[in-house]
Amino acid sequence: MTNSKFLENLIAGSSAKMQEVRQHIALAAPYPVNVLAIGPTGSGKELIAKGIHKLSARTGKFIAVNTAAIPADLLEAELFGHEKGSFTGADKARKGKVEEAANGTLFLDEIGDMPFSLQAKLLRVLETKTVQKIGSEKSIPVDFRLVCATHTDIGELARQGKFRADLLYRIAVYTIENPPLAERTEDLEELITVLSMRLKKTETKIKPATFDAEALGFLRAYTWPGNIRELANFLQKCSVLFSGQTLGIEEIRPLMPNFETGEPTEITQASLWDDPTERSSSEEDLLGSNKIESNESIDFIDYFSRNQPLNLRQFLSDIEEKLVTTALQQSDGSVEVAAQKLGLSSEDLLDKIKLYAVMNRSLMK
Ligand SMILES: Nc1ncnc2c1ncn2[C@@H]1O[C@H](COP(=O)(O)OP(=O)(O)OP(=O)(O)O)[C@@H](O)[C@H]1O
Ligand SMILES: [Mg+2]
Repeated sequence: MTNSKFLENLIAGSSAKMQEVRQHIALAAPYPVNVLAIGPTGSGKELIAKGIHKLSARTGKFIAVNTAAIPADLLEAELFGHEKGSFTGADKARKGKVEEAANGTLFLDEIGDMPFSLQAKLLRVLETKTVQKIGSEKSIPVDFRLVCATHTDIGELARQGKFRADLLYRIAVYTIENPPLAERTEDLEELITVLSMRLKKTETKIKPATFDAEALGFLRAYTWPGNIRELANFLQKCSVLFSGQTLGIEEIRPLMPNFETGEPTEITQASLWDDPTERSSSEEDLLGSNKIESNESIDFIDYFSRNQPLNLRQFLSDIEEKLVTTALQQSDGSVEVAAQKLGLSSEDLLDKIKLYAVMNRSLMK
C-alpha cells in the first residue's frame, strides 16, 4: 500500500484541511524531527502519531503514554524504568516506555499535563539521547522518535511558567494542527461511512444505522464538541438502538439532547467523549473503588443532609450509567471490551445501553 493510501485509510476526510494534515504527516515522517500534534479532544491526534510512526519506516514499536492518566509519582518510573528495590513496591527491575520505544516511536499524549519536575528529566533524555532508570547510575543510549499531543494551549502554559519553554522548543519542532470536526463538516458523510465500517468489524452483533438526507443536514449543523470520538459514540448508540435502520430527524433528535445549542449534556460530556482523567474528584472516588461502601472519602451522611429523600434507585442507576459509559469510553467504544471490564456479558451490556438511551429519550419528552 502506498503511503498516501495508508494515510487516507487511517485518517478519513477529503476536506482541504484533512488533506493538509495528511500532507504534513507525510512531509515530517521521514525526518527525525519531534512532532507536536495539537487539536481539540477526539479530533484524531493519536492517529497523527500513528501515521508518523508508520511512514517513518522505523522498525521498533509504537509506544503510547497518556501523561494525564498516570499519577505524577508513577509517571517517572513508567517513562524511564526502575531498578529492583529503587522504591517501595519495585520488586523487580523494569524497562521504561522510553526504552520500549527504542528504534520506534514514543507518543506522549497530553504532554501539557506533565509535572514540571519530570519535564526537566525528559529534556535531559532528549538532549543526551540516553535514559537512566530510577535507582541506576547507568546511562542507556536510546534512539526513539518523539511525537507529543496536547489539546491545551501549551504556548500559553509556557508563557505562564507552567511548561518549560526549552522543552517546548524541543518537542514542537514540527507542529501539526488537527481542525475540529465543526470546521470540516463536509467530511461528515465520509466519516460516518468509515466509522460504520469499523463498527461492523468490531461489533458483529449490530448493523450500523444510516441517515436520511434531512437527518444528515441536522448532523452537519451540530457542533460536535467531542469531535470524531463523539460522532463514533453517537453512531454506536444509533446502531444499538436502531440496528440497520435508516434514521430521520425524529429518531436522532432525542439522541442529541442539546442539539439546538451544540452544548454537550452533563452525562454526554462526562462519559461519552471527555478525557476520563478530567472526571470530578467525587466521581473519581466512586469509580476508583470496587467497593463503594469501603471508600472513606465519600461521606454518605451528606446525601441525607438535604431536606429531601435521596431516591436510592435513581442514585444507583446514575452510578451504573456512569460506570457503563466510562467503561465504553475507556474501551474505545467496543461493547465486548467494556462488558469484560464491567464483568457483564455483551448481551447484558447492550441491554443496559439500550435502557439508558431510552431513559434519556423519555426525559426529553
Ligand atoms: N479522521 C479520522 N478518520 C477516522 N477515524 C478518526 C479520525 N479522527 C479520529 N478518529 C477516531 O476517533 C477516535 C478519537 O481519535 P483520537 O484518539 O486520535 O483523538 P485525540 O485527538 O487523541 O483525542 P484526545 O484529545 O481526547 O486524546 C479514535 O477512535 C479515532 O480512530
Ligand atoms: Mg488522545
